Formats: sequence, structure tokens, C-alpha cells
Amino acid sequence: MTAPDGNTPQIARLKAYYTELEAGRTYVWCSCGRSAAQPFCDGSHAATGFRPVRYRAAADGEEVLFCGCKYTGTPPFCDGAHNGLVDTYPDDDPDSERNRTIPFADVPDGPRVALNGGCYVFSADRAPKAERGPVRYCTVIGPEHGSIHQSQFCFEVGAGDAPAMTFGDRHVVLFVSEGDAEVTISGRRFAAEAHSGVYVRPGEAFAVTGRKGGPVRFLASVCPRAKAPDWVDGMPDGFDDSCPVRVVPLDPAQRQGMANRYFQMLVDKEIGSDVVAQFIGHIPLSKAEPHRHLYEEALLILSGQGCMWTENLKAPVGAGDVIFLPRKQIHSLEATSDEGMLVVGTICPGDNPAINY
Ligand code: FES
Repeated sequence: MTAPDGNTPQIARLKAYYTELEAGRTYVWCSCGRSAAQPFCDGSHAATGFRPVRYRAAADGEEVLFCGCKYTGTPPFCDGAHNGLVDTYPDDDPDSERNRTIPFADVPDGPRVALNGGCYVFSADRAPKAERGPVRYCTVIGPEHGSIHQSQFCFEVGAGDAPAMTFGDRHVVLFVSEGDAEVTISGRRFAAEAHSGVYVRPGEAFAVTGRKGGPVRFLASVCPRAKAPDWVDGMPDGFDDSCPVRVVPLDPAQRQGMANRYFQMLVDKEIGSDVVAQFIGHIPLSKAEPHRHLYEEALLILSGQGCMWTENLKAPVGAGDVIFLPRKQIHSLEATSDEGMLVVGTICPGDNPAINY
């Protein structure tokens, strides 16, 4: 990193400033990093080439993340660029004096292990399943479990023709976690190999079967929330041609670095999903510094072992588990496997998993 001079911003801090705004008030964000009144300007830029950036709040209580590192590409707000300014993602010592006092949460008979603030770890293997033909399914996240923005369902498809379903006028994002799938979306067929993301537009119906008759497992994230799928007879047409690309496979060339982590966006606004976004990412052996997001997040563990921490509780996590994270809930995910953990995240509303505070 270049040492700060008149043309280089000074890093005020390596994360964003959460701020609740007042309607009609103009906020003057420090872009040079030299202000003593962070994240706001105090005139210290005078001898530099920087100028502050003004933002007028539209609504009372508007929640924003003002950039603290001053390297954002979307001033005055954080765009996650702070993660690229360091070699190692900020860590926390799982064996610190404070962390050693945090107990494991009780494990109930049901599938959800409750942590603080509405966060929980869901294990589909412990969940009762409904059936529809060769499809077995259960609710992972729903309004009855405290979500505000998204629902999520886990589906297992055996041999035979799977029936079509719809979530009505909602965005649906699928992740094929096991098996190679054939996905039919309102009459249009797509191949989706394991670890692909799939986007279904509002108003469309879809069906998922295993290619060559093999079993398939997939998650469906639905935004806004839905109680359950509506099953439909036959496969309606009406594919939305305005968004022709629907399947995004794994592609190492599309990885974005985030200190010593990486992620690849799967379903996002690039293919038309401007409400909900899905990514796949790798977490090395480490415990992240506790942090928060303004989006609601669901994290599926694809491989590796770890521990999910909130302020006063923790729970072990492993492949197949889903972690539900409400907005603004402080948390930290620790990977305990030498090879780290591979995770798939669905964030809503939002399109950038690198933005946190
Ligand atoms: S704090 Fe600067 S981009 Fe996030």
C-alpha cells in the first residue's frame, strides 16, 4: 500500500461506519481520511487534492455504511474495497479469555440450534420432510423462523418425473448442492451441474430432476418470503426471455479475492437478479473478527467443519448445515478444518457479500 500523501487517502479505519440518518439532513463524508470527526469532514483535506462528498438523506432512520478506508469505488458508501487492502482477513482468537467463556448452545430434538438474536444453525437431516411424488422437502428459513426478507427450502429429488412448482410473483434462486440436474423453467430446459446457481424469475414455474435419473439435492431461496411452494399440474410456458442466462456454474476465473479469502458471485444482477444475490466462497482455517451486515444472509456449508459464534453462544457446523443470519446480528464463523470451509451464501437485499461493518 502506498504511504498517504496529498493524493493518497489515509485509512481512517479498515471497515465501514454504520450510521442512521435523519431525513433532509446533508452529511459531508471525509474522503481524505485525515478528519478527526470520522466518517465526516472537519476541513482537514484543505492541503490535499481531496474534496468531501455530500449525501442528503431521503428518509428518517435510513441505515448506511459510510466507507472508513477511503478506498471505496462508491463514495461515500462502503463497497467492500477495505478487504482488498490487507493480506489477511481480520481474525479473532477462538481461545481468547472472552471466547473461552462462551458455551455451546443446547441441541434440541428439532433441526434448529438457536444462537443469539434469531441466528440459528439448521440441519436438514434432522428435519421432517413433506413429499410430492419423488420430491422430499422441508422449510429451512421462513417468516415463522424470524426472517424478514427471504424464505429457503431444501429439496431432495429421487428417481422419476418431478412435479413443477412456483413461488408466484417472487424471485427464486436455486443452488444445486448434490447431483447433476436438469432444470426446466416455464418450458425452457437447462443443464445445471453440482454447485451451480440457477435463477427463476417472478411468475415462472420450475421443475428439477436428476440427469441420467440420479438423485439431486438443491436449496431454493425465495424473496420476498413464501410459506411453501405451490405445486402446478404440467409445466406452464411463459419463460421470461428478457433474462436468457439462468444457470451460473463454478468458474475459478470468476473468483474475487477478499484478503486471504475468495468468493465467486453466482446469481446476481449480472443475470437479472437485482433483489437477491448468491455467491460461493472459501474460508481458510481461522475465526473471522465478529462483524455485522445490513443484509439478511443464509449460509450453506458445502465442505469442512467449523463453529458459528454469536455474542454469547456458539454451535458446531458441518457440511449440509445452513446458518441463518438476521440483519445486523453480530457473528463470527470459524473454520476448524485444515482445508477450510466452502460455503454458499444468499444475501437479501444486497449484491455484495464483501460489505460488512
Ligand atoms: S470501509 Fe472502505 S470500502 Fe468498506
